[in-house]
Amino acid sequence: MQLTYYGHSCFQVVIKGRKILFDPFITGNELAKQVEIDTIEIDYIFLSHGHSDHIADCVSIAKRTGCTVIANWEIHEWLNKQGISNTHPMNTGGKWHFNFGSVKVVVAQHSSGLPDGSYGGNPLGFLFITGEGNFYYSGDTALTLDMRLIPGWAKLDFAVLPIGDNFTMDAADAAKAADFIDCETIVGVHYNTFGFIKINEAEAKKIFETAGKNLLLPAIMETIEV
Ligand code: NI
Ligand code: MN
Repeated sequence: MQLTYYGHSCFQVVIKGRKILFDPFITGNELAKQVEIDTIEIDYIFLSHGHSDHIADCVSIAKRTGCTVIANWEIHEWLNKQGISNTHPMNTGGKWHFNFGSVKVVVAQHSSGLPDGSYGGNPLGFLFITGEGNFYYSGDTALTLDMRLIPGWAKLDFAVLPIGDNFTMDAADAAKAADFIDCETIVGVHYNTFGFIKINEAEAKKIFETAGKNLLLPAIMETIEV
């Protein structure tokens, strides 16, 4: 499966030719100035929660592309009010079969208020089970024992986890999460974008190496095979 990193927690995967974007936050990201947002073609956007560093560019991309946006019920209603009607609400515990495979919504331990102060529901994690591979995107979350449930649902090929600390797991907790979810290959996100989450990348890689796991930190605009 191909994964393209757009900075912070924004990335795209292509499954069965369908382009799936996660947590679009590009125009407000000082590190992602080289990303030409208007050239990103997308079939689906998945939103983990309502914070602006995960949804800031969602409305404009959804308006331009007409893609389907998947989010929790409260964000779905909020998007409808912004003029985005092609939405699919989901919530924790539920699963749906899309034309690229199925997605199960799992627990994330975080918060989810929307940029204008509206209630944003609960944060979500996503488990993708597809004919081209399985992966887990945790969204912003603490390390949680709920992650231990994931190997019972799917054998993961890779997972996308935050490693920036302060608002989410740090690299050490993310390495423990990799153990809980029984996954060897982790793509690290949600680090270095702003002051609170600056990390030492070499140290993070070492922590994963010691844990016997592989931490991938693609450059912004880099496409990797996972
Ligand atoms: Ni957040
Ligand atoms: Mn965040």
